[in-house]
Amino acid sequence: MQRGKARQAGGEARDIAQAVLAWYDREKRELPWRTEANEQPDPYRIWLSEIMLQQTTIKAVLPRYAGFLRRWPDIEALAGAELGEVLAAWAGLGYYARARNLHACARAVAEQHGGRFPASEAGLRQLPGIGDYTAAAIASIAFGLRATPVDGNIERVVARLFAVTTPLPAAKSKIRALAETLTPAARHGDFAQGLMDLGATICTPRRPACGLCPLRPECRGLAEGLAEALPYREEKVARPVRRGAAFVAIRSDGAVLLRERPLRGLLGGMLEAPSSPWGEAEPNGNSLRDHAPLKAKWLKVPGRVEHIFTHFHLELSVYRAEVGRDAVPKRAAMPECCRFVARRDLAGAALPSVMRKILSHAFEAEAKAAKRSSPAVRASTAPPRARRRSA
Ligand code: ADE
Repeated sequence: MQRGKARQAGGEARDIAQAVLAWYDREKRELPWRTEANEQPDPYRIWLSEIMLQQTTIKAVLPRYAGFLRRWPDIEALAGAELGEVLAAWAGLGYYARARNLHACARAVAEQHGGRFPASEAGLRQLPGIGDYTAAAIASIAFGLRATPVDGNIERVVARLFAVTTPLPAAKSKIRALAETLTPAARHGDFAQGLMDLGATICTPRRPACGLCPLRPECRGLAEGLAEALPYREEKVARPVRRGAAFVAIRSDGAVLLRERPLRGLLGGMLEAPSSPWGEAEPNGNSLRDHAPLKAKWLKVPGRVEHIFTHFHLELSVYRAEVGRDAVPKRAAMPECCRFVARRDLAGAALPSVMRKILSHAFEAEAKAAKRSSPAVRASTAPPRARRRSA
């Protein structure tokens, strides 16, 4: 770049940063991990918010964040928790590797760093669950270091501001480099959060409110009539479908047979209704019997449970059975990982959303069956004469 042009670009970057900071001072969202200018940010709170916000909306995170902080107010408390407790508190937030890493990270900070997060991007990146984005976010927000976190919101703002027409994900490195050119000499955390808020409230994916945007004069995307269309994305490959059968064994006292999933892998360490492997075809006949966790009279529940994971779409048939108090899982069902969980304990159990869907599906069928066999209902479906007599 020629010197004159470089100075011009530098001046423009300064104007952009100033506009974002001034807008942030006026319009920033009140969020529980944010501090006032005269307060010292707590790295534990910032880290917790960033891990929770990965792949999850602020609306979904807010109540969980408050609950986590009440239960585990600092890193030592979280490091002292059992993994199962953390997974149970995380249930429903999805992407459970985050919860396992959260726990591992708390232990690493407590045991290897004397309870203090390292105050550098490189040091943070060494910790479990902290990648490039999160390290930069914590470094800038919690420690005030010069770092440039680029999340989905910032990516969109920058792609529009500079009219980047290369589609994502190929455009990522270009967008990151452009974002770095904007990072101001001070207030790094506020600048990053200003861009995040701008992306979340003004520069939204659909119908951006360009009329209210503090970057309107500088926005090349807007000038070129491309703002709403950017960023472009390469077409996604359709998710493959995986199928299987899930088994809900309900004991006479209402307790349900659940199995702990292996620690590594999808939904690792969470509880599940035992199921066949998830593959191309759903099992039936003998293979269905082989996959059932115990011998019982399995009844197929009408309909299916569907769930979308990042890399595949899952379709499960659900089978339910009523079993006696002496029911014991078969060897093939890994009985050491299986246990009956009382109905009242299910709400607080480490059950991911897909497993909650499966249980609800089975419980609805159970309730319908109970209604059909209850005397009152039998009377109401009986011929008129019999009904009159029973009234
Ligand atoms: N998304 C991730 N981190 C955020 C933050 N600190 N403020 C707003 N949105 C966010």
